[in-house]
Amino acid sequence: MKRWQIEPGKGLTQVEVDTPEPGHGQVRVRMKAASLNYRDHLQVSGFYPGGSSGSIVPLSDGAGEVSALGPGVDRVELGDRVTATTIGGWIDGEYDPSMRDQSFGFSLDGWLQEEVLLPETALVKLPAAISYEAAATFPCAGVTAWNAVVETGGAGPGDSVLALGTGGVSMFALQLAKLAGARAIVTSSSDAKLERVKSLGADDGINYAQRPDWHEVARELTGGRGVDVVVENAGLLDLSCRAARSGGTVALIGVLAQFGGDEAAQHCRVRDVFLAGARVIPIMMGNRRMLERMLRAYAQHGIEPVIDSTFEVDDAESAYAALGAAGHVGKLVVRA
Ligand SMILES: NC(=O)c1ccc[n+]([C@@H]2O[C@H](COP(=O)([O-])OP(=O)(O)OC[C@H]3O[C@@H](n4cnc5c(N)ncnc54)[C@H](OP(=O)(O)O)[C@@H]3O)[C@@H](O)[C@H]2O)c1
Repeated sequence: MKRWQIEPGKGLTQVEVDTPEPGHGQVRVRMKAASLNYRDHLQVSGFYPGGSSGSIVPLSDGAGEVSALGPGVDRVELGDRVTATTIGGWIDGEYDPSMRDQSFGFSLDGWLQEEVLLPETALVKLPAAISYEAAATFPCAGVTAWNAVVETGGAGPGDSVLALGTGGVSMFALQLAKLAGARAIVTSSSDAKLERVKSLGADDGINYAQRPDWHEVARELTGGRGVDVVVENAGLLDLSCRAARSGGTVALIGVLAQFGGDEAAQHCRVRDVFLAGARVIPIMMGNRRMLERMLRAYAQHGIEPVIDSTFEVDDAESAYAALGAAGHVGKLVVRA
């Protein structure tokens, strides 16, 4: 079977290997679709901390059909349509940093291969209404947004959600804000992308390249009260806290601006964080129960994740190039 792997010093290469047999408690899944996240760009560029020191099959997110069962497996059957949580052993409860070594695509082989071996405990069966391509977008970006907006932020009718940027996490945050009955405010460096997010349901868009005071603009849009939930993808913590209402939630998710060389991202004013009075809560993706709840919600409400482009798996390099070029809105998917 064919697999893509990242080797230190060699980057992304496609190789031919024997199809693996599942061991005790393991399931083999025929990959049908997988999706890319920003950290896959960091990983292939050599910037993502931790993970495997040798070669690794990338991508933490995918979906497929169960093709073989190891001894002792009883959670799934041959032919089941499944996806998997991004951190194998995290079923429920709080995240523990020791779980990092169970991260698919980083410390354990991930989805960018024809057949994937996964522990049965990581698997979630897909509702009939969810396609493989849609399912492949949920485990990292989707569940992170779900955790931030729904479970940690508790957004509800009359609230406001501010999502920074127009990538995968932000577009899920937009959809979840609307599902919760909240006002969705999205920032972008591109007016064209802001037009697109408005067509996807955003109430307001702010061009952060033209308005470095985007946090003030967001606050004004809430009548001066401040935003209830900030989906903080950018690493601009002090500015995000200034956008938030006192007692609101700033869900600390990413550091995009730091890699983008944004000067404001290099100097966080802790005083501003303190004075804002918002709850600053780091989000580490989410557990299997959150993935299950989110899939149910999307199936029940017939919501389709925002997929910008889909690539054939043999053309995975083009998907990585598109991720690096950052012209996308929502998710980039590869399909088998
Ligand atoms: N904590 C977690 O568990 C977790 C999980 C998933 C992702 N993350 C992190 O969350 C971030 C987003 O990930 P993703 O996969 O959604 O990314 P993505 O799909 O690659 O989207 C990247 C987008 O971020 C926007 N951006 C870049 N610099 C920005 C800035 N200074 N301010 C606001 N937006 C900016 C850009 O939007 P425009 O082109 O519209 O400007 C860009 O298109 C990354 O830092 C990622 O590592 C963390």
